[in-house]
Amino acid sequence: MDYFEYTNGALRCEHVPVSEIAAHVGTPTYVYSAATLLHHHKAIAEAFDELSPTVCFSVKSLGNVHILRLLAEAGSGFDVVSGGELARVLAAGGEAAKVAFAGVGKTDREIAEAVDAGIMVFNVESEQEFETLSRIAGERGRKVRAALRINPDVYDLATHRYTTTGKKATKFGVDIDRAEDFFDAHGRDEHVRLDGVDMHIGSPIYSAEPYVQAIGRSLELVDRLRSKGHEISLLDLGGGFAADYEQGASPLAADYAERIVPLLKGRDLELVVEPGRQIACNAGILLTRVQYVKQGGDRRFVICDAAMNDLLRPALYDAEHFAYPVLLPAGEPPPHRSAGYEPEGGVKVDLVGGVCETSDFLARDRSLPPLDRGDLMAIFSAGAYGFVMSSQYNARPRAAEVLVRGDWWRIIRRRETYQDLMGPEIVEWTD
Ligand code: LLP
Repeated sequence: MDYFEYTNGALRCEHVPVSEIAAHVGTPTYVYSAATLLHHHKAIAEAFDELSPTVCFSVKSLGNVHILRLLAEAGSGFDVVSGGELARVLAAGGEAAKVAFAGVGKTDREIAEAVDAGIMVFNVESEQEFETLSRIAGERGRKVRAALRINPDVYDLATHRYTTTGKKATKFGVDIDRAEDFFDAHGRDEHVRLDGVDMHIGSPIYSAEPYVQAIGRSLELVDRLRSKGHEISLLDLGGGFAADYEQGASPLAADYAERIVPLLKGRDLELVVEPGRQIACNAGILLTRVQYVKQGGDRRFVICDAAMNDLLRPALYDAEHFAYPVLLPAGEPPPHRSAGYEPEGGVKVDLVGGVCETSDFLARDRSLPPLDRGDLMAIFSAGAYGFVMSSQYNARPRAAEVLVRGDWWRIIRRRETYQDLMGPEIVEWTD
């Protein structure tokens, strides 16, 4: 569900024709809908309402400080995986007391910053990390809270192998069968209150079933730990709720909650969820203009001014993002947003970028209305893991970002310049 719609043949974000944004800001540009972000955030909070969850938006999916501020004002907490993400949350006015900090490689500096900020919970992923956290908290005279990230060894087979995380042989967390020993060794630490169990089983997870299995295993663990006298008061389910890359194809927050809530009711556990994609994915599109159209053998290539450096997901995961012209040919109905959609008179094309890599494509083998130089295209479902994974590869300045709210819109990140490319290389040498 989102607030991008074709009316009278033109794509709008909320009340704003996106062609107006392109005319003022240029392309490539990410455009986000505030109403869509807030809708999904609220839907998740409401679906799990009975358990009074802390919804920690996953900053890695979409980290612009203006977006974080919007969500912070809506009462969101945040899931961070680096000192940089924590700095973003704090700059956006997010509450440290609603921040969960995950990540297998937290540095001493990052840990110290998070201890000083007074975050809600450290999701600890190894013995050595726990010992480091305890030392740093002790040095600073603080007692912090931690949850142990376990691998429940369930995962969704539909999830791409690069984004599966809950399996046993993974760098994330600790095996569930080692969890009891971990709590026995560290459960009564002087500087760290270890009273939570945390997991993140992958992203995206297309049904509630893997969560049901993982929660089942986690609750057995919680029972065993409690029977040994460990006080366990927090369960963090991580993220992974799916979003619509194809219109209407993914479960809603309520569908996940319907299976999950009954399992956790009455278990006396504070619930944390860390959704990123389900909130941000459908809230963003990438606007790009067609530069050239050319034939290469039996393929027709539409070369855009956005490329893999702007949206890496197709190149990295073979991800399918629906792509379509912003202005429809006269009389054409709005498309059904799925990669297989074929408009009448459609032409099969590959949408590619200008980066010097064969893997630089945005969408392949799509039936689209005939396109020509200057046509404006929207790449949908690009709000999550879009801008945040962009780079300057081929010395391409990063895209601009725009936020729309009703009929109001603003640039929330200006387009980078050549100066931005080289700025950090201006260094002083003394020899
Ligand atoms: N919590 C933790 C600990 C995570 O590692 C992640 C995502 C999330 C929450 C949020 O997951 P979500 O609700 O967004 O599914 N770049 C990939 C996705 C990588 C996800 C990594 N972890 C992509 O573009 O599909």
